[in-house]
Amino acid sequence: MSAALDAQVERMVGTGLRNRWWCIGPSAMVADKPIGLMRLGSKLVAWRDAEGKVNLVDDWCPHRGAPLSMGRLAEGRLSCRYHGIEITGEGRVSAVPALPDCHLLGKKLVRSYPVVEHFQGLWAWFGADESVPPVPLVFPEEFTSPEWTGFPISATWQTNYQYVWDNVIDIMHPEYLHKDTQYFETGVANKVKITPTGTGFKVNREIYAGDNVEVMEFIDNGAFWFRVGFHAPPACGPGGNWRVWPLATPIDEHRSQVTIWRMRHVSGWEGDLFRFMFNTKLEQYNWAIVLEDKVMLEAMPPWPAAENLYQHDIGPARLRRHVRDEARRQLAPSTVKAGTASA
Ligand code: FES
Ligand SMILES: [Fe+2]
Repeated sequence: MSAALDAQVERMVGTGLRNRWWCIGPSAMVADKPIGLMRLGSKLVAWRDAEGKVNLVDDWCPHRGAPLSMGRLAEGRLSCRYHGIEITGEGRVSAVPALPDCHLLGKKLVRSYPVVEHFQGLWAWFGADESVPPVPLVFPEEFTSPEWTGFPISATWQTNYQYVWDNVIDIMHPEYLHKDTQYFETGVANKVKITPTGTGFKVNREIYAGDNVEVMEFIDNGAFWFRVGFHAPPACGPGGNWRVWPLATPIDEHRSQVTIWRMRHVSGWEGDLFRFMFNTKLEQYNWAIVLEDKVMLEAMPPWPAAENLYQHDIGPARLRRHVRDEARRQLAPSTVKAGTASA
């Protein structure tokens, strides 16, 4: 393996693998104005068209390069604020009001990104380039079953997303980092096990304390998912354990967009009760826990830290290997042996 390829792999992984769907944030992020955002190191603009569909294109006007995110939105049509040309969601010039026979008219000049909106969230396809068509976006059961109720919360964290990914597949951190906010049995010597699932892997402790992490799973099915289940005290209402989906997407190599779904296995009136309790009480409780992760991860050195891993780190180690194998597969397919990219 050449050092040059290794460096390329690290660069690609540092701002996020291509040829994947990425959660770019909650639905509410795109309202009635064009919004500029950076994801995977690219400057983008999102807006809703007249039907409410979210469009996402590079934040670059093909005339002279002004940011389209500063543009005007009228009846779902985006026009550049500088000289007024209009751009469609496919990145095509649809009007040049000041020069109706302009040669730019009808041309596709801006890169666009397919977007799916579902369960109060937005996912965008980031192909290696625009010619790579999206794979089907397959949501985990909790995002499609009426038996589950949930809400996303969202924040920007000042850290590389790989620290967040490590954290949400690191089953040995909660009893220490969240010792003061959650009831966890602490100080029990343990070992960590990994179980491949076909689309990723689950992480478990050899000794399972029922009041601790119920499930921790990484899924790569064309999009990246992290399923985390943990104990909810009876005061949290019906629905059993929390099911949490912490989805961290790189903004750039130093910042992450973190969108976290809080879910309970409830529907009907219990779903309404969860919604009420979530808004009035539960989110404060959860946010206190998330803050502990945020504070720790923002205090880490710039990625990558110097490390000395031990047995408990097999979750993060496995995840890192998966992502790097996939990056190598995209950059230099002949260097990756068949099957090594499976988690
Ligand atoms: S730079 Fe956008 S219309 Fe001129
Ligand atoms: Fe945590």
